[in-house]
Amino acid sequence: MGKSRENWGSKIGLILAMAGNAVGLGNFWRFPYQAASNGGGAFMIPYFAALILIGIPVMLIEWNLGRYGGKYGHGTLGPMVYLQAREGTKPKTAAFIGALAGAIAFAVTLLVNSYYNHIIGWTLGYSFLSITGGYMDPATSTGEIFVNYIQNPAMVFTFWIIALTGLGFAVMRGVQKGIEAWAKLMMPVLYVFGIILAIRALTIGSPVNPDWSSMKGLNYIWNPDFTALSWKSAIAAAGQIFFTLSIGMGIICNYASYLKPDDDVVVSSLATISLNEFAEIILGGTAVIPIAYAFLGPDGVGAGVGLSFIALPNVFRTMGGGQIVGSLWFLLLFFAGFTSAIAMYNYLVALVEEDLGMERSKAAWAVFIGYIIVGLPVGLEPILTKTADLAYFTEVDNWVGTYLLIVLGLLEVIAAVWLAGSKALEEMNRGGIWQVPSWFFNIFHRVLTPLSIAALLFFSTIDFMKAGYFKAVPSFVEKTPQLVPWVNGARAVIFVVILTGFMQSYKSIKSKYGKELDENKVSIRL
Ligand code: PFF
Repeated sequence: MGKSRENWGSKIGLILAMAGNAVGLGNFWRFPYQAASNGGGAFMIPYFAALILIGIPVMLIEWNLGRYGGKYGHGTLGPMVYLQAREGTKPKTAAFIGALAGAIAFAVTLLVNSYYNHIIGWTLGYSFLSITGGYMDPATSTGEIFVNYIQNPAMVFTFWIIALTGLGFAVMRGVQKGIEAWAKLMMPVLYVFGIILAIRALTIGSPVNPDWSSMKGLNYIWNPDFTALSWKSAIAAAGQIFFTLSIGMGIICNYASYLKPDDDVVVSSLATISLNEFAEIILGGTAVIPIAYAFLGPDGVGAGVGLSFIALPNVFRTMGGGQIVGSLWFLLLFFAGFTSAIAMYNYLVALVEEDLGMERSKAAWAVFIGYIIVGLPVGLEPILTKTADLAYFTEVDNWVGTYLLIVLGLLEVIAAVWLAGSKALEEMNRGGIWQVPSWFFNIFHRVLTPLSIAALLFFSTIDFMKAGYFKAVPSFVEKTPQLVPWVNGARAVIFVVILTGFMQSYKSIKSKYGKELDENKVSIRL
């Protein structure tokens, strides 16, 4: 503590960095297939409900948690959550809640990036293939091309390492010269590419079948279909809100820790949400779904996970200027992924810097090695097993990239709202251009948001049980016994990482607030 921390260089830099954090593969790769395979218009209803009930309130909490933690010199979740929780409970209990939150954030930032960095590598590889015409030959299906790609060690490892090295150099340079500088460059380019693609999508007409047009594609997601509403699509929509806004991950808090104690929170966090939603539903929704609909029809749109890497290349192959449009698309994905992955990378660098006392540049390379280790199984599974199920990836994504986000969101609300109470509201509004009114805080933060997250957690648990994720051999690998060890490997890794994260964040809290824990009384205040 006491050591001065870096701050954001400018307001615009801060907003672009936060938008870079939130706008990621979640907006352009995940959202379109989630929306399309969960009923389109039926998905958008719970999506907006979750945005209002969970997205906005939790985003405000995370900015507040982070800015307050930053004031005490923390960039990680354990101590941040501790500082809020101790306002409403004894330090010993607060330290437990903090350590739990820190453990989850550690698991998310380490393990989500274990596969996310690979997808960034694929987007780079596919940009290369687009420019060189690598998937244009109709003799091989785009599905086969994708499988060949992920089973080809030269492609997989080259582009993955390039992406990781780029991230390492960016993070090494620090908050202003690294993260902020890259966001200022990449985010505007991303929006320009997104707008070009969206316009292209809307002007495509009906190239294949007079019944399929891009306008019908738009209709498909913007026509609210109450009859097709289901719990499954509601859970998927709320899960998408967590993922796309980067909440329940710890990385918004980490970025907010580089704010000054009186920097505005309310307007800036709403600006981040607006930029993210514009990228997701306007650009992601317009560029991807209508193009896919016009070329592949209603069934093609619901292609699921393969929408970006399998269905769209099929489109680029047949459309005029497809190679250019394809390059723009995969570069857009790359920029989106890169500016998000920086945030997870920086979280771990802050952890190593602050808790192990390592210098930033060394910390960046230590994390680099960590990412190589945790990313290896993801890259090796298809190569060694000659399959394309990505079972290890799926298992990690289900638990760490989906389920744990909800758990962390709930912990944050408990600490920052139920325990810190009106102090949290006061803190949130400090220095604000706008203020959060107390009626909003009382209705949303105190009641509706925790209830919605708890309900989401409950129904997600049931959904996970039904999908067979709790079984010793989860249903999705029942027919591929050779993949069972990969799933169990993923489980072992998740367990070890959470345990390590718990001990690490407890230690981090104890090293700074040991006196409070011994006396079980709050005494350290700034
Ligand atoms: N909001 C980000 C996205 O939509 O992609 C979530 C994210 C995932 C951020 C992975 C960072 C990351 F490494």
